[in-house]
Amino acid sequence: MEEIIQVKCAAETEKVGYELAKRLEAGGKNKAFIALFGEMGVGKTAFTRGFASYFGINCVKSPTYTVLNEYQGRAKVHHFDFYRITDGDDLYSIGYDDIIEDDGYSLGEWSENIVEFLPEDAIWVTISRVFTGDVSEEDSMLRKITVKSKKTF
Ligand SMILES: Nc1ncnc2c1ncn2[C@@H]1O[C@H](COP(=O)(O)OP(=O)(O)OP(=O)(O)O)[C@@H](O)[C@H]1O
Ligand SMILES: [Mg+2]
Repeated sequence: MEEIIQVKCAAETEKVGYELAKRLEAGGKNKAFIALFGEMGVGKTAFTRGFASYFGINCVKSPTYTVLNEYQGRAKVHHFDFYRITDGDDLYSIGYDDIIEDDGYSLGEWSENIVEFLPEDAIWVTISRVFTGDVSEEDSMLRKITVKSKKTF
């Protein structure tokens, strides 16, 4: 399935993350990998913040320097940032395989860097800027969010 959602600000991006979490849980999917794609500053952490907030986790910070932040709310949320990951050895050294097999949800920023290591059933979330040609303040906050997965949920 594929869905495209247009949002107008960071709070709306968070809401899309929140709604995805809610749908996964409602559909009985208590383990999933959400692969996040999109350029720097587009809203990948904002999306993750919204997703985690559904499980009562309200302190999501960017894992850019730590590669991985793990949160325990009503469910476990593993928040990866693959920005500095360049090969399978790097992934191995952070325990990637074991972590994604663990309970709960994994979200990975900069999944572009690890495409060949993404689980088969990953949900692909791509965030991109929308340009209307109008250089207003509001325009800079427009985003298109594409949610894609092999299976419906
Ligand atoms: N529609 C929007 N969705 C998300 N963030 C937005 C939006 N409009 C403006 N912003 C702003 O853009 C920034 C997005 O930051 P965020 O850390 O979520 O991006 P990121 O994709 O995780 O960046 P990085 O690649 O550096 O990890 C925030 O400052 C946020 O307020
Ligand atoms: Mg980020």
